[in-house]
Amino acid sequence: AKTHNHEFVVEATPVKRLCKTHNTITVNGQYPGPTLEINNGDSLVIKVTNKARYNVTIHWHGIRQMRTGWADGPEFITQCPIRPGGSYTYRFTVEGQEGTLWWHAHSSWLRATVYGALIIRPREGETYPFPKPNRETPILLGEWWDRNPIDVVRQAQRTGAAPNVSDAYTINGQPGDLYKCSTKGTTIVPIRYGETNLIRVINAALNQPLFFKIANHKLTVVGADASYLKPFTTNVLMLGPGQTTDVLITANQPISRYYIAASAYQSAQNAAFDNTTTTAILQYHNSIKTKPIMPSLPSFNDTNTVTKFSKSFKSLKKVEVPNEIDENLFFTIGLGLNKCPKNFRKRRCQGLNGSRFTASMNNVSFTLPNNLSILQAHYFGIPGVFTTDFPAKPPVKFDYTGNVSRSLWQPVPGTKAYKLKFGSRVQIVLQDTSIVTAENHPIHLHGYDFYIVAQGFGNFDSKKDTAKFNLVDPPMRNTVAVPVNGWSVIRFVADNPGAWIMHCHLDVHINWGLATVLLVEDGVGKYQSIEPPPLDLPRC
Ligand code: C2O
Repeated sequence: AKTHNHEFVVEATPVKRLCKTHNTITVNGQYPGPTLEINNGDSLVIKVTNKARYNVTIHWHGIRQMRTGWADGPEFITQCPIRPGGSYTYRFTVEGQEGTLWWHAHSSWLRATVYGALIIRPREGETYPFPKPNRETPILLGEWWDRNPIDVVRQAQRTGAAPNVSDAYTINGQPGDLYKCSTKGTTIVPIRYGETNLIRVINAALNQPLFFKIANHKLTVVGADASYLKPFTTNVLMLGPGQTTDVLITANQPISRYYIAASAYQSAQNAAFDNTTTTAILQYHNSIKTKPIMPSLPSFNDTNTVTKFSKSFKSLKKVEVPNEIDENLFFTIGLGLNKCPKNFRKRRCQGLNGSRFTASMNNVSFTLPNNLSILQAHYFGIPGVFTTDFPAKPPVKFDYTGNVSRSLWQPVPGTKAYKLKFGSRVQIVLQDTSIVTAENHPIHLHGYDFYIVAQGFGNFDSKKDTAKFNLVDPPMRNTVAVPVNGWSVIRFVADNPGAWIMHCHLDVHINWGLATVLLVEDGVGKYQSIEPPPLDLPRC
């Protein structure tokens, strides 16, 4: 196994999109940032230097970080942020994961432009569990704002309103030629007739689940979130932010140019979204430069297509899902509206009906500490940073997907974690709620891959629905797109000690509090305890 050394310099760089040039926060002047390519079993050493005027941290999305939680990256969860002028070196080893992951800033909305692909190939000397492709292409889906994204979220926080939606979706940082001033930069994916291309699709968008399609070409899905799947073919993918999907395509169509396109899957009712389409071009060798063929994308609210797609996911091999469980948890996920106190200045109450938007799990609206990270407080036994009273189930039971009076649900702010014993077998039911609006929430857990043993619509029914669990070959992921007005059940073994944030990967929902922390205690001995913190861990 190798060790790969990299330097990341976070800095403001002028970037021109949609006819205007902006000072954009990038890594090494690149947007999207550098692609990291390693083999399973390798180690990464990445020195991050902050030359921007914002605090920053980098998260290696989906990397398990076994006992190295100090390198996970979410600010005030596993580390204090890297201040302007400061630096921090992330060190970790990748073990047992193969496929596509990515990295991104985990501080305010910096990840809008600070992100890149992290490709993990099989161990040296080993091969893919599918025929070797002729080419490989990472495709990063993203969102672009005409304004500084940090200003967009700050304004939302000041007003209590929903933030402005993005001005374009992007493929590898480029809106594509359906947008103004964007023809020149459009991403071209070259291919020769007869070749196969392994396309690694990453949804790096800040707030938008996306459909993905390539005109006239079938997509054979072979992996997701760096786990292999039983191959299946489809015309369309849906990825929630945070998710990745690896597909094989074969160039078996007439020599021509075909659009690769992504558009919104918007399950929330009456919520604003950008209904434009981002494109790249799959360009056959020897094709003439005519207008590419456009695929027909699903309509923005096509939940049936999403359900059909996610039902096709099965692990490639039979897996070891915990059969018995020690921790049976039930977390509601969803939005809320908090009353504005009387005499509160109007400009801070621009959510629905003169209130402020909020979000919660089990009615707790998560607030980040600001003086120390949760992992440091846990490791050094420093009180007053967080509490461990996050509830195992919601405080009140009601028809989660029905019409609910808002007075039932006033999320309460708190920095609450849920404690897990080392080695415990955990099941979490993630239940969407329809308070304010039901929505497909991409729930991401740091430090773990989990099995998605079942999903469905309505209220989870522990008798009826448990009978349908797939404990043989469920897919393993780090981010689950919980169905709108429905639920997902995940299982995993708590074998990685540390403080792990679990949150909705729609970033505006993190700002509103849709998160909690799973605090996994040390077990016995060196291999069951978190390593000591690195000496250069940033100070608060
Ligand atoms: Cu990709 Cu906590 O995030």
